[in-house]
Amino acid sequence: MLRLENVTKIFNPNTVNQKSALVEIFLELAEGDFITVIGSNGAGKSTLLNVIAGVYPIDAGSITLDGNDIKGLPEHRRAYSIGRVFQDPMRGTAPSMTVEENLSMAMARGKKRGLKLGIRKDQRQFFADRLALLELGLENRLKDKVGLLSGGQRQAITLLMATLTHPRLLLLDEHTAALDPKTAKKIVELTEKIVGENNLTTLMVTHNMEQALRLGNRLIMMHEGRIILELADDFKQKMTVNGLLQEFEHLRGEAFVSDRVVLAT
Ligand SMILES: Nc1ncnc2c1ncn2[C@@H]1O[C@H](COP(=O)(O)OP(=O)(O)OP(=O)(O)O)[C@@H](O)[C@H]1O
Ligand SMILES: [Mg+2]
Repeated sequence: MLRLENVTKIFNPNTVNQKSALVEIFLELAEGDFITVIGSNGAGKSTLLNVIAGVYPIDAGSITLDGNDIKGLPEHRRAYSIGRVFQDPMRGTAPSMTVEENLSMAMARGKKRGLKLGIRKDQRQFFADRLALLELGLENRLKDKVGLLSGGQRQAITLLMATLTHPRLLLLDEHTAALDPKTAKKIVELTEKIVGENNLTTLMVTHNMEQALRLGNRLIMMHEGRIILELADDFKQKMTVNGLLQEFEHLRGEAFVSDRVVLAT
């Protein structure tokens, strides 16, 4: 359903700061795939998600979603099909707006008509029902400004907002990294639940190897703008954190890492 072919992204081309953040990336996601993405700092993980979401144009290659070329579509035109949650809990919500206003904005995302002021009673009930699923008591705080909530609460709302309109694709970029362990665990559980119940096709970046192995059905490892390792479901289930670290050390040591190693039966 999502297909990236030879995608290349170069930042600051023809300057001393030139950086190839993505090098000839090929990646194909099937409906319902949940892929975890690992790799060290600067590997290109966020850039990969950003070019899919349309934050930056790509320099070469193609990106198609459900067979449609989305390469030329600006970010806001892709937003209806693509839900996102970022590392920074402050980023996904508007702090000066209330919880229900934020949710209402998420419902309107990508639609032609602008944000209508005023929230109908049935909408409010719908929001309260969805918030109740988070089990954080947020259904009683519909009229509170989001800026008053904790990072974990905001991240839970962002996750709900990102998935409210059943996007074709969900992009999660280290969305639990800034949270305390207990809250992070809760958000991971919510993620599993929301992705599972809606069978959402998902790309999730994480530095937590254990999490990367446990969640989802495929795993990719990035290094210097390339996908250097891919684990299919059966291999992913058998792989250990130590095994993964060893693979990384081995592959990173290769002089030429342009070939991806695929572990699949
Ligand atoms: N907007 C930008 N302008 C210039 N260079 C950028 C930009 N965004 C990313 N880069 C560079 O591209 C490379 C890949 O960055 P990216 O943020 O994708 O890495 P990452 O794998 O997400 O790392 P981290 O684990 O630290 O989040 C880095 O060298 C980074 O400095
Ligand atoms: Mg990143």
